[in-house]
Amino acid sequence: MLESLSSYMAERRGVVEDALESFLPESGGRYSRLTDAMRYSVFSGGKRLRPILAIAAFEIVGGEGDAVLAPACATELIHTYSLIHDDLPAMDDDDLRRGRPTCHKEFDDALAILAGDALLTLAFGIVTQEDVLPPERAAAIVRELAGANGHGGMLGGQAADIAMEGELPDIGAIEYIHGHKTGAPVAAAVRVGAMAAGAKSIDMERLTAYGERIGMAFQIADDLLDERGTAEEMGKAVGKDRDHGKMTYPGVVGAESAVIRAQELVDDAIQSLDAYGERVWALAEIARFIVDRRN
Ligand code: IPE
Ligand code: IPE
Ligand code: MG
Ligand code: MG
Ligand code: MG
Repeated sequence: MLESLSSYMAERRGVVEDALESFLPESGGRYSRLTDAMRYSVFSGGKRLRPILAIAAFEIVGGEGDAVLAPACATELIHTYSLIHDDLPAMDDDDLRRGRPTCHKEFDDALAILAGDALLTLAFGIVTQEDVLPPERAAAIVRELAGANGHGGMLGGQAADIAMEGELPDIGAIEYIHGHKTGAPVAAAVRVGAMAAGAKSIDMERLTAYGERIGMAFQIADDLLDERGTAEEMGKAVGKDRDHGKMTYPGVVGAESAVIRAQELVDDAIQSLDAYGERVWALAEIARFIVDRRN
């Protein structure tokens, strides 16, 4: 990773970790296993890409102060919930996540379901806390997160991902799955960051185009890493898509074409932010990182 990007990301990751700590319940209390399970999965070393994207979008449209922290953390809480449920035996049945046993392995299935649910509801709670954001802005952000992560977004994509296991390669299906399960929440992360700053509609249009493209590229890269990466670097098992008969982007178009498509998406994403000139560097470097990453 470029030195300047790695320090940009490390600095914002630190801000995100502190903010997450302030939003998560402390452990302890009568039914502490639930809060323990929430904390176990949130504080386990994820890349924090979605909240960093939210912050970068907030900054590029001139946002200042702390208004972005709750929406940014909400994207990470929803993402972590989606991973906990994605790993359950009824879904991808994975034992390793972020280099540690998955939530249901460390706790149990019931607690993993509940911890995921609790992180989702907490996400909406923190965005609507009093005195964090103007009420109309908070409502718009909640609406955005609900739409992008609900049946018409991430969950719709996850349902299609499961339904298409073992089916014949289908470019329309894979575009739907990736656009919904990953593209929509990643685009929403960019959008809510900009919304927290009260971005104008022209900025929203540009950032939406950027977010949708990098989101799609992100999932193509994830599919490629499942084939080419190592469990050590990824912190999760590899080769599992094939084992599950998952429909993947390289599975449908071939690995070479998938690499080309991901790169095209990144180039187009960066181009959609041309109007920002040199200020775009962080969002541009994050887009490049998404396809160059090894974990
Ligand atoms: C993994 O997301 C799930 C996908 C949407 C492909 P990340 O690769 O962002 O996982 P963490 O948050 O860094 O663990
Ligand atoms: C998960 O996609 C996308 C989510 C919405 C959680 P994957 O199932 O490919 O993610 P990994 O590979 O388990 O991280
Ligand atoms: Mg999955
Ligand atoms: Mg999975
Ligand atoms: Mg995957």
